[in-house]
Amino acid sequence: MKYFLTTPLYYVNAAPHIGHAYSTIIADVIKRFRRMKGDDVFLVTGTDEHGQHVERAVKAAGLQPQEFTDRIAGAYRSTWDELGLDYDSFIRTTNPQHHRTVQWLFDRCRKNNFIYKGQYTGQYCVNCELYVNDAGPGDPCPNCGRVTETVTEENFFFKLSAFEGRLLKLYEDHPDFIQPEARRNEVISFVRSGLRDLSITRTSIKWGIPVPAEGRHVFYVWFDALIGYMSALGFGGDAAQVAQAEKLWPADLHLVGKEILRFHAVYWPAFLMAAGLPIPKRIFAHGHLLFEGEKMSKSRGNIVRPTPVARVMGVEGLRYYLLRDIVFGQDGGFSYDALVTRYNADLANGLGNLTSRTLTMINKYCGGTIQGVIPDDPAGAPDPEIGRLAGEVISQTTACFENFEFSRALEAVWSLQAAVDKYIVTHKPWELA
Ligand code: ME8
Ligand code: MG
Repeated sequence: MKYFLTTPLYYVNAAPHIGHAYSTIIADVIKRFRRMKGDDVFLVTGTDEHGQHVERAVKAAGLQPQEFTDRIAGAYRSTWDELGLDYDSFIRTTNPQHHRTVQWLFDRCRKNNFIYKGQYTGQYCVNCELYVNDAGPGDPCPNCGRVTETVTEENFFFKLSAFEGRLLKLYEDHPDFIQPEARRNEVISFVRSGLRDLSITRTSIKWGIPVPAEGRHVFYVWFDALIGYMSALGFGGDAAQVAQAEKLWPADLHLVGKEILRFHAVYWPAFLMAAGLPIPKRIFAHGHLLFEGEKMSKSRGNIVRPTPVARVMGVEGLRYYLLRDIVFGQDGGFSYDALVTRYNADLANGLGNLTSRTLTMINKYCGGTIQGVIPDDPAGAPDPEIGRLAGEVISQTTACFENFEFSRALEAVWSLQAAVDKYIVTHKPWELA
């Protein structure tokens, strides 16, 4: 079976931190698990390079937009490569093929009458050149604190309000569409409270994809970024690419952080319904990594970089810590102390000691071969007790992986480690030998 999964497409306003690495590592873990189960897996990651955040970062760096975005996109790629993450396609939303895909999707939605021109009124900070969502007249800019201005401009709107009923039916018919459960309930109550149409273009921003035949307008943030999941597959390319893309679409899993769940679970299926295209199977929203009690964020600057950690602890050490210590789906604190403790207790002392001890005994007492190591079973069949336990652990682990319960999966694996330790103590191979 094909299995197509995605990470978010990260903004290129700054180089990746461990929060971005977390999402991408989890995606890589799921990919490897599905491949082990025999699926044909395709993993997309990439960068979201338009919009006002990026425009501002470019200005602050004093570079040309393309130069700046090339640099940060390159930092993402090389970080994923250094962490050994096995993605199949890295999409950049500045890629011309992506532009064609966005314009194609827009045209489909427009033909189906879900796009119209209207007046957008919102708050804008002239100093930061920033639209401020959810702000009213007189509210300050969250960035610089200056009073925002009320601006009105002609924009294209997407008729999101037409999809309330269809979205609620989607959530009801496919209870697994949004996970975890608590997040699903939040989305349902958000949609039930009523959906407003969505302004999807801007005329005051330059750094964006032009709306076909509407020179002054560029697409605004989500009706650009989300479509990257399609252009990454080959939509927007030549006939052969599109045919290939159609085999993989829709996504089996969009993996996202909880702060962007709404865009994935409400806007995205609505855009696709409007275009008459298949809807993704599942959106999983994970929690946030906190550092010293606060959400790590590029703007706050309280961040941990993944590569220095991986250089000291090894990629596997970092992966193990993130999967074992943080309950997937919930927020969790990243701490260097906890990382070192896990590393020493579980990997070095637990698994490491058991492995080295076992290998030493195999060499010392059994001439380096596993055949016939069990004294009362000269044929060398595994001890039925350990064999049974291992079988149980394999099915528990598999079930946990299917349910995205990574820390429980690892607990199960380490219960086998503890059982084998105990087995050695009980049977004293050094005496048997
Ligand atoms: O939102 N803990 O990009 P972004 C865990 N471009 N995960 C974290 C995290 C943290 N502290 N910080 C970031 C965007 N992440 C849009 C997405 S998708 C078509 C467009 C991860 O650079 C998490 O997956 O702000 C989060 O959703 C994502 O990075 C946001 O990255
Ligand atoms: Mg963000």
